[in-house]
This record gives sequence, C-alpha cells and structure tokens, in this order.
Amino acid sequence: DGRRLVIAVDGPAAAGKGTLARALAGCLGLPYLDTGLLYRVVGRRMLDAGLDPSADASGEAATLRAEDLARGDLRTPEVDRAASRVAGQPAVRAALLQFQRSFGAAHGAVLDGRDIGTVIFPDAAVKLFISASHRARAERRWLQLNAHRSPADGEREAEIAAVEAELVARDAADSGREVAPLRAADDAVRIDTDRLDADAVLAEALRIVRARVG
Ligand code: CDP
Ligand code: CDP
Repeated sequence: DGRRLVIAVDGPAAAGKGTLARALAGCLGLPYLDTGLLYRVVGRRMLDAGLDPSADASGEAATLRAEDLARGDLRTPEVDRAASRVAGQPAVRAALLQFQRSFGAAHGAVLDGRDIGTVIFPDAAVKLFISASHRARAERRWLQLNAHRSPADGEREAEIAAVEAELVARDAADSGREVAPLRAADDAVRIDTDRLDADAVLAEALRIVRARVG
C-alpha cells in the first residue's frame, strides 16, 4: 500500500536532488515538493523588503502563500544566499515545518531538501542522500543557468570556478548551522552521481525504493 509513501531526497546544492525527486514522483504517481523553494520565497521577501536575510525573518516573511511558490525570480545567486541565511533561523524552520509535514502526510510524496530525512520525515520509508563532487555540481549548475550562451573557454572556466566557490560556501553554511544542518540520516542510502546521468540515478533510486517497500 503506497498511498502514504514518503520518500526523502537530501543532499548539497546542485547534486541533482530536484531532477531525481521530480522524476521519482512521476514514476511512482506521488506529489512532489521542492522544499528549497520555501526558503527561497522567504529569502526573496527579505530582499524585496530591503532587509538583511540574516535578520529575524520569523514574522510576515515566513508566512507561505501558494502563489509565491510560482514566482519566477527565486533562482538567482542572490536568492541562493538569502535562502541559506534565512534557513539558519530556528523560527523560520519552525514556521515552514507544518506545511511540509501536511504536504507529505496527505497522499504521500517525494520531498527534496536538506533535512527531510533527519527532521521533517524521520520515519520516511525511503531516504536518499544525493552527492557529487564540487566540480561536477558547479559544471551542472553553470550549464543549467547558461545553456543559451557559449562563452570562450577561459571565460567559461572562470564562471564555473565562481559557481563552485558559491556552492562550497553555501554547503559550509548549510552543514555548519546549529538547526537542522545538512547531513545524511543514519538510515539514508547514498547515491554519488558524479559518473551517473539523470536516467541512471533514477534507475538506481527505483531499485532502492523497490528493495525497501516492494
Ligand atoms: O536540486 P539540486 O540543486 O540538487 O540539483 P538539480 O537542479 O536537480 O540538478 C542540477 C543540474 O544537474 C540539472 O541541470 C540537471 O539536469 C543536472 N544533472 C545532471 O547533469 N546529472 C545528474 N545525474 C543529475 C542532474
Ligand atoms: O537547488 P539548490 O540545491 O541549489 O538549493 P535549494 O534546494 O533550493 O535550497 C536553497 C537553500 O535553502 C539551501 O542552501 C538551504 O540553506 C535551504 N534549505 C534548507 O535549509 N532546508 C531544506 N529542506 C531545503 C533548503
């Protein structure tokens, strides 16, 4: 009976969590929630209000409105940083917890983020921890944002190096914070995606799901 099946997909930035979680949800007929978007909405609101994202964001800024999740301006480098800063605030995490739990409890779901297997759904039937080298992640995130451009090799290398530095800094902040730090749950299955394309990662994840829940 997979009606309330919850699958947690965690890992560092640009490891391929969202690509996998969306595909898994499609294959299994489950709803999908990108929990990073929730923190991005709060970070975006702080920036729009001219506030420092490290300042207290527990009030109005952390009130979720469904229409905010569809905003198109949530994936800029500035919002990457703002999301990570608000995500370090315990009150913000508390304000977003119930939305995530209710989403998963209603019909089951695949959720991707940083603390799904450790905090949001510690009893999830399947927990996956997706990783890849800094270099692979930086190349992928660069390509995701620059698929329409073809800069000269040197320029491209410099841009990828800058993306890598941002990823490393954000991972350090996410792993080092006191509340819900990024880490693999003890019972998570790790998938290193360096040498796997998205289809191969999906096939591996489906094998793990079938082994766990039949
Ligand atoms: O959600 P997360 O930040 O972990 O990563 P993503 O947005 O799913 O993936 C980042 C980029 O890497 C996307 O453009 C994916 O298509 C690509 N990707 C890949 O090239 N190989 C994989 N095995 C997984 C993702
Ligand atoms: O796509 P990418 O992996 O780059 O980022 P994201 O998943 O959209 O998450 C943006 C930021 O939100 C992360 O750097 C974390 O600080 C925070 N986040 C979190 O703390 N907990 C989650 N469950 C999801 C995201």
